[in-house]
Amino acid sequence: MSFHGMGMGGNGMRGVWEQRRSIGYLEQGGRPTRETVKRLLRVLRPHARRLAGALSLTLFGILLGLVPPLLMRQVIDVAIVHKDVGMLVYLAAGLVLFPAAGAVVSVGQNYLNAVVAQGVIHDLRTAMYEHGQKLGIDFFTRTPGGEIHSRLVNDLNAVQQVLGTILTGFFVNVMTIVLTLALMFTLNWQLSLLSILVLPAFALPVLSFGRRTYEAITRTQESLSHLTAHLEETLTLSGIVVVKSFGTRRREAERFKSISYDVRSNQIAQSMIGRWLGFVFSTMSAIGPALLYGYGGYLVIIGAVQIGTIVAFATYLVQLYSPASSLAGSNTTLLGGLALFDRIFQFLDQPIAVPEPAHPLPVKAEPGVTPVSLRFDHVRFSYRQGEEVLHGLSFEAAAGQLTAVVGPSGAGKSTILSLAARFYDPDVGRVLLAGMPLAELAEDDLRRLMSVVTQELFLFHQTLEDNIRYGRPDASAADVAEAVDAAQLGELVAQLPEGLATVVGERGYRLSGGEKQRVAIARAILRNPSLLLLDEATSSLDSHAERLIQQALAGLFEGRTVIAIAHRLSTILAADQILVVEQGRIVERGRHQELLAQGGLYARLYHEQFDPGLSRAGEDRG
Ligand SMILES: Nc1ncnc2c1ncn2[C@@H]1O[C@H](COP(=O)(O)OP(=O)(O)O)[C@@H](O)[C@H]1O
Ligand SMILES: [Mg+2]
Repeated sequence: MSFHGMGMGGNGMRGVWEQRRSIGYLEQGGRPTRETVKRLLRVLRPHARRLAGALSLTLFGILLGLVPPLLMRQVIDVAIVHKDVGMLVYLAAGLVLFPAAGAVVSVGQNYLNAVVAQGVIHDLRTAMYEHGQKLGIDFFTRTPGGEIHSRLVNDLNAVQQVLGTILTGFFVNVMTIVLTLALMFTLNWQLSLLSILVLPAFALPVLSFGRRTYEAITRTQESLSHLTAHLEETLTLSGIVVVKSFGTRRREAERFKSISYDVRSNQIAQSMIGRWLGFVFSTMSAIGPALLYGYGGYLVIIGAVQIGTIVAFATYLVQLYSPASSLAGSNTTLLGGLALFDRIFQFLDQPIAVPEPAHPLPVKAEPGVTPVSLRFDHVRFSYRQGEEVLHGLSFEAAAGQLTAVVGPSGAGKSTILSLAARFYDPDVGRVLLAGMPLAELAEDDLRRLMSVVTQELFLFHQTLEDNIRYGRPDASAADVAEAVDAAQLGELVAQLPEGLATVVGERGYRLSGGEKQRVAIARAILRNPSLLLLDEATSSLDSHAERLIQQALAGLFEGRTVIAIAHRLSTILAADQILVVEQGRIVERGRHQELLAQGGLYARLYHEQFDPGLSRAGEDRG
């Protein structure tokens, strides 16, 4: 869905440094401002019609509720006095019918309220998810997963609880009070004045609570996100393995306990703000009727008013106090709600580091059919301001050729791949795909043309086939079978209990490292990209597994442009061009024999990494 007017925030480079600089949890937004309210109104705008419907029904319900006290008054002052039994029957029936009609109206009103509130939450949730997808890789390297999770789940949950008050509560209470008072004044202005004498007392003490609620809710939601983050880090597959293997169960439990205790304390503090006001309100609620019956009784004695009027007034008074006290509390709820919306809007304001171009260049290349070139043109890049990682890199990976990138750990190899995949934009210079700057291509075109196979292999908790099909869900069974063959997965599939339909666990845990690599290769083969970016896994494999991978890779490389961070001798030997990277610069380039003959960094790395004659993969070369 489109989400106009929510201010997706910072396009382009503005704010990117801000984003890259801050580390860890998102900083909490500022004060509740007019800005937040305006923005909230924009979020509500698509629901305006239903909201208007809900408010109309509410108004109608209030009007229906005003009738019964008038009927009571008629019963006492007219029907009983005139001993009119027929009229009594009508009035009694009215005393049932009006509340019944009110109940029916309130069902419709509740329905519309729920539709609007859930609609708003659905919109926000979707917008947050879609915005989250557009955020740069660096956002995710910087932000604990639990923090993101918490904004989408905990904050929206909390919003749900206050949205009713924000949407209709305020209106209901004001209208009830206004209409009830208007009616009371037409009945008897002296008694009315007496009754509302105490009303302002409801409002006064609560004005200061809004700010405190805002802060308390902010604290609660923050501690909740810490809780979620801790949970996601330590009680998920990847984390629990570390916890178990280091025997840190108790330490993590203690930390969890202390965060949980924070949540508990914050929640208690939040729920206790202004609670003692209940006492004030109860007392107030007693004073009004006392005055009414005292002075009203006197008026009846001297014959100034009739008993029925007093009864009607007493009933109205009861109807008046409850909205008055919740109105007094809604200042608190509103500001608390704004705190939640601030957190949500703040997530939506996270700048998109690599924005899509407004007018992307047309792409003619056919994925998988036309190999395309990739060129770095004087590329400079830094993750953090002032710490440049790539210092003016230029190279061309020619169409259909294999370019191997080698170099010591920390040289910038993975960074080159990230820029080639446009996970980041260069600070200076350009990356060009088939002669067109990446930044001017539509995201869809870009992804259609290239595939990235990273070192860190991630498989979804789905069947093996779903995982292989991930990049091309509509592939035919024959294509899948072909990819499985090319990736040397036939043997594995035959062994699995349910073949391709076997569910591979979260992170593909049931597969070995080499098997996962080949699944990733099969996925890329099926996807059939023109350009392949490969960060070869570094784990060393036994010779059988190694040979399978080599054959799988040969199938993957065929007919494509490949840039590979190479850890395998076979890949290096097959390369048309080897780039030797050191400290963010290309220090040597050429083919294996030439570079070896030069006796420079490449030769040294080669001798360190590969015992000549033994074609085994190097270990742990970042
Ligand atoms: N997300 C990041 N934030 C900040 N610095 C990073 C990040 N990723 C890598 N670096 C730094 O950039 C440099 C190059 O890293 P990298 O490209 O991963 O090297 P290689 O893949 O050659 O081992 C290293 O100094 C590394 O510490
Ligand atoms: Mg690396």
